[in-house]
Amino acid sequence: MQTIIFNQQQSIFNRFIAEIRDTSIQTDPMRFRRNIERMGEIMAYEISKEFPHAAKDVTTPLGVASETVMTEEPVIASILRAGLPLHQGLLNYFDRAENAFVSAYRKYNEKGDFDIHIEYISSPSLNDKIVLLSDPMLATGTSIELAYKALLHKGKPKHVHIVSLIASEAGVQYVQNMFKDEPVTLWLGAVDEELNSKSYIVPGIGDAGDLAYGSK
Ligand code: URA
Repeated sequence: MQTIIFNQQQSIFNRFIAEIRDTSIQTDPMRFRRNIERMGEIMAYEISKEFPHAAKDVTTPLGVASETVMTEEPVIASILRAGLPLHQGLLNYFDRAENAFVSAYRKYNEKGDFDIHIEYISSPSLNDKIVLLSDPMLATGTSIELAYKALLHKGKPKHVHIVSLIASEAGVQYVQNMFKDEPVTLWLGAVDEELNSKSYIVPGIGDAGDLAYGSK
């Protein structure tokens, strides 16, 4: 299992991270969604370097060009609803990908504690496929765990790339521990230190689903 953190390098990616965190910019849901989509595109480009490639001759109007092209398409699996803009960004580059969706929501009890519930899943067969599992926020790691377990009913992927924009240190450790002997790569935009008592990432961004779609 390998972990790659994007904001440890200086690039325009960091501006998009800064903007989705910034309360003075978060007020524009269209810009919020588009920033997430743009980060998905940048991450897709980096992830594509890990895909199998082969030589291919391409006929042009004037001759034949020898290119090296990707030989496999992934399944992009996203957690609803916050995963949708990130899903779109990944799909803009992996434009021949198959698509899977899993719903996950927090069900609170009277003490204010919560469990994550998975209710809806739509997925093609995942047997021996490369899967991009996307969720913009990796807080405790439980949503990723439960979504992954639900998706396993559709077959065992040969490699899983988990794609998240903001993670907590505890969530990263949880996921690294869960997948330590598995063919999994964890791609992260940034890692924050804390989770608050409601398991929100601090400083984080707030509620990604609400910010993207402007409702509760
Ligand atoms: N989900 C969010 O949208 N934000 C967090 O901080 C944690 C989980």
